[in-house]
Amino acid sequence: LKRWSGDQWGTGRIHVYVWVWIVLWTVTVVGLLASDIKHIRRASLDMALAEARIQLNWDEATRLWSASHGGVYVPVTETTSPNPNLGDVPERDIESPSGKKLTLMNPAYVLREMMAHYSNAYGIYGHITSLNHFRDETAPDNWERNCLSAFRRGVKEVWDVCNIEKAQYLRYMRPIHVEAGCFKCHADLGHKAGEVGGGVSVSIPMAGYLKRQVEENLAHTVSFFIIWITGISVIGFTARGLIRRTKERDRAEEQLRNTEKELRAVSTRLLNSWEEERKRIAIEVHEGLAQTMSAIKYRVESALTCMPERATSKVAGLLEPVIAIVQEGVSDIRRMASRLRPIMLDDMGILPTIVWLCREVTKAHPSLQIERTLAIEEGQIPEHLKVVIYRILESGLGLVAEAGHRGSVEISLEDEKGRIHLTIQTDGDMFAPSRCVPEDRTETNPSLSTITELAILSGGSQLAMPGEKGGSVLHVSWLLEDRS
Ligand code: HEC
Repeated sequence: LKRWSGDQWGTGRIHVYVWVWIVLWTVTVVGLLASDIKHIRRASLDMALAEARIQLNWDEATRLWSASHGGVYVPVTETTSPNPNLGDVPERDIESPSGKKLTLMNPAYVLREMMAHYSNAYGIYGHITSLNHFRDETAPDNWERNCLSAFRRGVKEVWDVCNIEKAQYLRYMRPIHVEAGCFKCHADLGHKAGEVGGGVSVSIPMAGYLKRQVEENLAHTVSFFIIWITGISVIGFTARGLIRRTKERDRAEEQLRNTEKELRAVSTRLLNSWEEERKRIAIEVHEGLAQTMSAIKYRVESALTCMPERATSKVAGLLEPVIAIVQEGVSDIRRMASRLRPIMLDDMGILPTIVWLCREVTKAHPSLQIERTLAIEEGQIPEHLKVVIYRILESGLGLVAEAGHRGSVEISLEDEKGRIHLTIQTDGDMFAPSRCVPEDRTETNPSLSTITELAILSGGSQLAMPGEKGGSVLHVSWLLEDRS
């Protein structure tokens, strides 16, 4: 029974499967959420980068515009004084016809001033710089120095997310290439046209993007959580239904097993009482009737002995055959009794009884050759099966003998893989299934139906099939249950 339920889906197994599903589902959802969050982060960075590029495009356009004019003249004010670094340039300071003072503003200066305005208004910092800078304001910091040397190696742009004063910024930098117009003021540096003369960097504040990123992350997390909960509920409900149905099935199976057990008990009792009855009659016949007959024989014999002229007496001539008749009667009765129930079965066990049975059958039907294989020990056969095996063999051999079969019959009794196997094999088609249940529905052979009944009542499984060499095989097997 244990082996049987082991193959089934127990509730414990369902629990394991449910946990596996929950873990798989959770891993999937968390994985998708993680990849989503990564994308959101990437998108924020891309947007900041786009803003930085636009910013630098404008800066570049302004710088190139002012360089294309060789610098521009602006009025001198308190904040805009003449650039001392342009001291060598002729006409740095000029005067308008009305006497207004104007000074030349070089492109880097224009950009510096514009960027200062811009950073005050929007928090975006720009910086023009070069490795051989003119003034402190245009000196590169460490990050910019690295970028500038990277540009020299041919890198087109560099960006990075940095912390500036506890806030996150995207720093973006592009090189400035020297052109012919630059030599008006930068000739002494010995640059050639097209070389990297410096770089411009911008720092875009990430705060707005980060805020959006956090909001987006939260929204996605909530959605995924809802999806996750839905999945878990579906798994839970399915598992609950499955467990309920499994329990119902287990209960039904349990009931079935109990019924089967009861049925088995009843049929065993039935078989036993039947056998008991036979045994009782056999003993009575053997002890009572046979004894009486023997007494009659003895009496007749003594009467004959007392007769004076026995050889000539007419009465003696009539009585003498009576002794032979009674003698025959006694052996008939003995045979009858042993057919009802061989006392040997109880006294010596099934194996010697089988040997005896075979001998009896061959005695009655000399044309039969019975070969037997008994590869089992007496102790291995459960007590209640012994008489069943005997009856089946008796009926089977009877069937073979009745059918007028000549030739060999093989019988074998062996145990294999926890089962007892009983096989009767002939080279005629004695037990062919067509004989068991004929198609024209005439009476089934009574011996065969007896065998089937015995097999069923004793809890065995019976099988009649055509044999290998054209003969037929009758096979009955019983499961050897644990003694528990
Ligand atoms: C009108 C003269 C003038 C012209 C034209 C000019 N510059 Fe300058 N540039 C200067 C001066 C002066 C500075 C020094 C910083 C300041 O005072 O603004 C400077 C600064 C720079 C800097 C900042 C780093 C440093 O050296 O301090 C770079 C880079 C630069 N120039 C590149 C260029 C390029 C490239 C061109 C051509 C497209 C160009 N400049 C055209 C005068 C000029």
